[in-house]
Amino acid sequence: MTLIDAVYLLIFFHGMIMRRDFIHKIKSYLSFLKESDFIFLEKSTETSETGRKQESNSGDLRQIADEIACCAKCRLSQGRTQTVPGDGNPEANLVFVGEAPGYYEDRQGVPFVGAAGKLLDKLLSRIGMDRSQVFICNVIKCRPPDNRDPFPDEIEACEPYLLRQLEVLKPHVICALGRHAAQTLLKTDKGINALRGKFHLYHDIPLLPTLHPAAVLRSPGQLRDVEHDFDLISGKLKELGG
Ligand code: URA
Repeated sequence: MTLIDAVYLLIFFHGMIMRRDFIHKIKSYLSFLKESDFIFLEKSTETSETGRKQESNSGDLRQIADEIACCAKCRLSQGRTQTVPGDGNPEANLVFVGEAPGYYEDRQGVPFVGAAGKLLDKLLSRIGMDRSQVFICNVIKCRPPDNRDPFPDEIEACEPYLLRQLEVLKPHVICALGRHAAQTLLKTDKGINALRGKFHLYHDIPLLPTLHPAAVLRSPGQLRDVEHDFDLISGKLKELGG
């Protein structure tokens, strides 16, 4: 073996050692990457699924709201400041359906922002929830003049928007606030006192009618009944896993 051969051999062995070391380092780096990437991928898959659902629900709700914004299917469109399509969490497990926007809702385009809304907030906090967790809307999306009761033809014209919203949201529980919401969704003409305090079914979704918060403000003695109904809602949500 010449000196040159010996040098080549040395370089070769050194290269092998370095290579093995290098490969070992690369391997452990790759497995570290793989491990963190694995965790990252798992999380990102979950997140992206939730995110996708959230995005698609809010997209669908936005589409319905856009249609409502240019709706002229009934006379109420002529007197509105703006439509009040609904507001809240696009993935809410609990949806409240009220009657129709009042003065402040018509001004702001957001449901239940007046005195009745403040009571609704209190009732929500009683069951450990807030608006960010629920979706709130009305049967009627435009304010009736002087807050009069909606007419049957106005309900009929507006109802498809509500039904589409519920179809997108697919909540675990629906709470109908007052007679109009309960009668519209349950297709009944029974009074609210006969309907409230127990669960009914709307397309297999438990629906609990309760008194409208505005009615409670007029007759505070009825607050206990409504509190009881909210406790039932809370229990049902827990039973159904959130
Ligand atoms: N009453 C309702 O029924 N809906 C509102 O948005 C406000 C008051």
